[in-house]
Amino acid sequence: MGLRPLKEEDYADLVKLWKNAGLSWDWGDDQGSYVEAVRRFGQHYWGYQWNDRLIGCVLGAFDGRRGWIYHLAVADPFRRRGIGRLLMQAAERSLRQHGCQKINLLIEPHNLEVAAFYQALGYQAVANQFMEKPLLTLTPPDGASGEIV
Ligand SMILES: CC(C)(COP(=O)(O)OP(=O)(O)OC[C@H]1O[C@@H](n2cnc3c(N)ncnc32)[C@H](O)[C@@H]1OP(=O)(O)O)[C@@H](O)C(=O)NCCC(=O)NCCS
Repeated sequence: MGLRPLKEEDYADLVKLWKNAGLSWDWGDDQGSYVEAVRRFGQHYWGYQWNDRLIGCVLGAFDGRRGWIYHLAVADPFRRRGIGRLLMQAAERSLRQHGCQKINLLIEPHNLEVAAFYQALGYQAVANQFMEKPLLTLTPPDGASGEIV
C-alpha cells in the first residue's frame, strides 16, 4: 500500500485510471510504447497502490534539459487525500536526482480547473504557445500506427 514504481504489468490498470480521470488518449499511450518507456524511463513512473488496486499514477520524463509530467491521475473516490501531491513529489524527487532543474507540464483546455492543484504545489502558469507535430498516426486502443512523415 502506498507509493511504488510503475511496472510493465500495470498497463491495463493505467488505461482504466486514465479513462476514468478523463485524460485524452495520446501518442505513446498504446501498450508497446508504454512498455518501451517504462523500461527506459521507469525511474520517474510512480503509482499509488491501495490494497490490490492501483488508484493513482504519474509518468515523469527527463529529456536532458527539462522534466515533463504526463498522465497524473487519482481515482475519483480517493481524491483530496493528498495522493496527487505524493505522486508529484515522488516524480519531482526522481527527476531532481537525475539532474533535472525545471519541470514543465501541459493542461488540456477542457481541464483548466486542475491548475489550482498544480498551483498548490508551486507551479506557475506561463503564456508560452505549445506546438506539436506527430511523426506517426495516433494509435487508437488496439489499433496499429503508421508513419506519416
Ligand atoms: C489532479 C488530481 C491528480 C489531484 O489529485 P488529489 O489526490 O485529489 O490531490 P491532493 O489531495 O494531493 O491535493 C493537493 C492540494 O491541491 C489542491 N487541489 C487538489 N484538487 C483540487 C481541486 N479540484 N480544486 C482546487 N484545489 C485542488 C488543494 O490545495 C489540495 O490540498 P487540500 O486538499 O489540503 O486543500 C486529481 O484531481 C485527478 O486525478 N484529476 C483528474 C485527472 C487530471 O486532471 N490530471 C491532471 C492532468 S494535467
